[in-house]
Amino acid sequence: MIKNINYTDENVLQQEQDTIFHKSWFFVGLSDKLQNKNDYITYRCGSVSLFVQNFGEELKCFSNICLHRFNNIHTGNEGNGHLICSYHNWVYDDSGSPMVRSACLKEELASCSRPKLEQYEVAICGKFIFVKVNKEDLTSLDKHLGSFYDKLIELSSFFDDIINNETLVLDHKANWKLLVENVLECYHCSSVHKETLVPIGIGGKKPENHYCESGHDKVDYPIRTTALQTEREAKLSFLTKTQYSHKSLQHWYIFPNLFISSTAGNLFYIGKLSPERSDYTKLYAEFVKPKYTELTKKEGMLLNAYAQASLDSSTRVIFEDRAILEDIQKNLSIIPEQKQIFGEEEFRIESFHKNINNIINYK
Ligand code: FES
Ligand SMILES: [Fe+2]
Repeated sequence: MIKNINYTDENVLQQEQDTIFHKSWFFVGLSDKLQNKNDYITYRCGSVSLFVQNFGEELKCFSNICLHRFNNIHTGNEGNGHLICSYHNWVYDDSGSPMVRSACLKEELASCSRPKLEQYEVAICGKFIFVKVNKEDLTSLDKHLGSFYDKLIELSSFFDDIINNETLVLDHKANWKLLVENVLECYHCSSVHKETLVPIGIGGKKPENHYCESGHDKVDYPIRTTALQTEREAKLSFLTKTQYSHKSLQHWYIFPNLFISSTAGNLFYIGKLSPERSDYTKLYAEFVKPKYTELTKKEGMLLNAYAQASLDSSTRVIFEDRAILEDIQKNLSIIPEQKQIFGEEEFRIESFHKNINNIINYK
């Protein structure tokens, strides 16, 4: 197990950013966000600031830092636009080269160690886009994901539209490992989520179908039949028409920064982690509708209302967790030499710790 000091020390975080987050492939977003030419997604974490953009023929990934005086090229989390820096309007082409008109700047650039934007590797698995910034690591994405590569392709074949128009960004005053540990168990579900998850039958049942490989991890938390659930299914008959049918809260952790969950195949949640400081982590959330079979017009309308309500309730679940994690973070700095205790229900956290302990020599 890992001592509390490793959740509060900036040097530890820096090591983690270099050797866990940016050592190999990490998740940056869903391909739905890059459907049109010049659509882009940005990603910023530690010493990495980049964007992935649709250049018509292909997706490319470049450093998001302007060569001139280091302003961001793209601002915001996502959008559509040419590569134009807003400070002095330098324009870049699709190879990341600046199209400068002034002769003196051309000379400067020719002698500069960075004549064009640094380019990084980008690869796609189903609808999941991954990036690798470490050029010394030659692992392919399918090797990095192992058998999860095919599983993610299959899973995302059931994804329909993203429900939230803009990515939801949730700041957590907590270390990234606390966010991971929190989603790797549902032991807390019956206490923390008694008004959100318990009424729909989640919590209190032993997880099933656990599968873990190279740090990636998947499990099913069975759903109990509750009065609310039975009433809901009677009113919303379309729920049983989902093409991704299972009676559980299915949870996936794709190492190091992607969370996926499916609530009985009626709503997908896609979460992306970005650890900014040892006590500050950004969580980016998307909610995705699953594909349904042959919905009537009325069912389609009900589905939209249901999706909106599910989004609100899932956001509430994240807030419920966040309040606890932020309190824990404060306490960890008071008792730096102690360690959390993990019991039988927290077996996925033990695998997570084992995996990162193999990568970093924690204090
Ligand atoms: S900083 Fe980008 S154009 Fe000047
Ligand atoms: Fe939770």
